[in-house]
Amino acid sequence: MPLTSPKEMFARAYKEGFAVGAFNVNNMEIIQGIIMAGEEERSPLILQVSAGARKYAGQNYIIKLVEAALEETDLPIVLHLDHGQNFEICKEVIDAGFTSVMIDGSHLPFEENIALTRQVVEYAHDKGVWVEAELGRLAGVEDEVSSEESIYTDPDEAVEFVERTGCDSLAIAIGTSHGAYKFKGEPKLDFERLEKISSMLPGFPLVLHGASSVLPEFVEMCNQYGGDVAGAKGVPEELLRKAASMGICKINIDTDIRLAMTAVIRKYLKENPGVFDPRKYLGAARQAVKDMVQHKIKHVLGSSNKVDG
Ligand code: G3H
Ligand code: 13P
Ligand code: ZN
Repeated sequence: MPLTSPKEMFARAYKEGFAVGAFNVNNMEIIQGIIMAGEEERSPLILQVSAGARKYAGQNYIIKLVEAALEETDLPIVLHLDHGQNFEICKEVIDAGFTSVMIDGSHLPFEENIALTRQVVEYAHDKGVWVEAELGRLAGVEDEVSSEESIYTDPDEAVEFVERTGCDSLAIAIGTSHGAYKFKGEPKLDFERLEKISSMLPGFPLVLHGASSVLPEFVEMCNQYGGDVAGAKGVPEELLRKAASMGICKINIDTDIRLAMTAVIRKYLKENPGVFDPRKYLGAARQAVKDMVQHKIKHVLGSSNKVDG
């Protein structure tokens, strides 16, 4: 099965009020865990690759791993560039066969974000590739993606931005942030703003970044087995379910994969001090990714059995 475009996935997600999970992939175990979960749930999937992932694994390794997965599954799978920083990176991955790119001009002034996004749209659409853009800014720190403060998306600007850039989907800022420390107090999202944006852009797919739930089970496991991620807090699952029913068609998840793998590896090594075969603890980590992703698909995204045909 070749890679697919997000187009049909999002059309159905929008209509039926579910979201497609966009999972960050960095190595073989992560890809395999996600595919296993998608297979069992018969769910469409987006595998997304950040600049950090390209640096860590190498773009060619990731593409080859995804190609290997495609030979073994008939699920619709999108290969997406996460947080493309400039035109050149977007062009490079489009030329390499990605079916979707994000151009992240969210750090730029409005007009510059429009110009950059427009440039990517022109190149991508010519090759049938989907373009996600971002307006507003998420706080949070990852390897290559960071911002001190958040700026919520302005609904009027969102409409103008979509019209003028011709982008296919839009990442918006409504209170989520990247990483494991999303909220100091009570977690909340600006649903009024989401409602307004989706009513002003009817039928247009919106994207939620920074959407890991930071599952307490894995935070506790990390802390119990020698880690220190005290105070980690994510987006509660019921808020994500609500967002998925309000025009959010793509939900980005990276931190939950990191936490699940790290927690399980910590536990495994502590309980099995004599084991030094990486297949043992990486196998346990892969199983944890599969179980966690399956839980998301079934109970948060609502994308089980949403494969067309
Ligand atoms: O939004 C950022 C993603 O979680 C990727 O993070 O740049 O550390 O790979 P990374
Ligand atoms: P999390 O850090 O919440 O997993 O967000 C990931 C993300 O938005 C990737 O683009
Ligand atoms: Zn992101």
